[in-house]
Amino acid sequence: MNHATRSYEFSNPEAAYGELARDLRALLTGERDLVANAANTAALIYDALPGLNWAGFYLYKSGELVLGPFQGKPACVRIAIGSGVCGTAAARRETVLVEDVHAFPGHIACDSASNSEVVVPLVRGPELLGVLDLDSPQRARFGVGDARGLEALARIFVESLG
Ligand code: SME
Repeated sequence: MNHATRSYEFSNPEAAYGELARDLRALLTGERDLVANAANTAALIYDALPGLNWAGFYLYKSGELVLGPFQGKPACVRIAIGSGVCGTAAARRETVLVEDVHAFPGHIACDSASNSEVVVPLVRGPELLGVLDLDSPQRARFGVGDARGLEALARIFVESLG
C-alpha cells in the first residue's frame, strides 16, 4: 500500500471525513499494535486536517492520562482525570468541543498557539483507553461535524486494536 497521504476536500466535511475514515481503516488493517496505530492515526489526521497545530493521543495508565504518539510541539506528559479539556472528556466519556480554550476553566496550555480544541474519548465497552486530542490556533476551528467525524476515526482506531 502507498502510505503517502493526500489532500481531503473539507469544503464538504462529511465527504472528507468519510474518505479519511476509509483511508484510516486501510492504514491500520492487519496491525494491532497500540503505539504503531496511534502514531499512524495521529500522523494521518495532522496531515489531512487544515489548521491544526497539534494532534495526538493521551493514553489511560494507572488512573491518569499519559502522553502518547502525537504530531506537533512537545506537550505536557501527565493529565489527571477531570483536569483540562482532555481530563474532562475522559471523565465524562464524551467529546468536548472548546471554541476558545482561554475561556475553558482549567484548560492546560501546552502550546500557547492553541486557541480551540476538540477531545474525543477512546472507549472499548466499559474501558477507558485514553483520548484523541486536536488543537488549532484558529478560534472555533472545530464544530459538531468535526466531532462526529473524529468520533468515527476514534472508533476505527479502537477497533484496530482487536
Ligand atoms: N490542552 C489540553 C492539554 C493537552 S495539549 O493541548 C496537547 C487540555 O487542556 O487538556
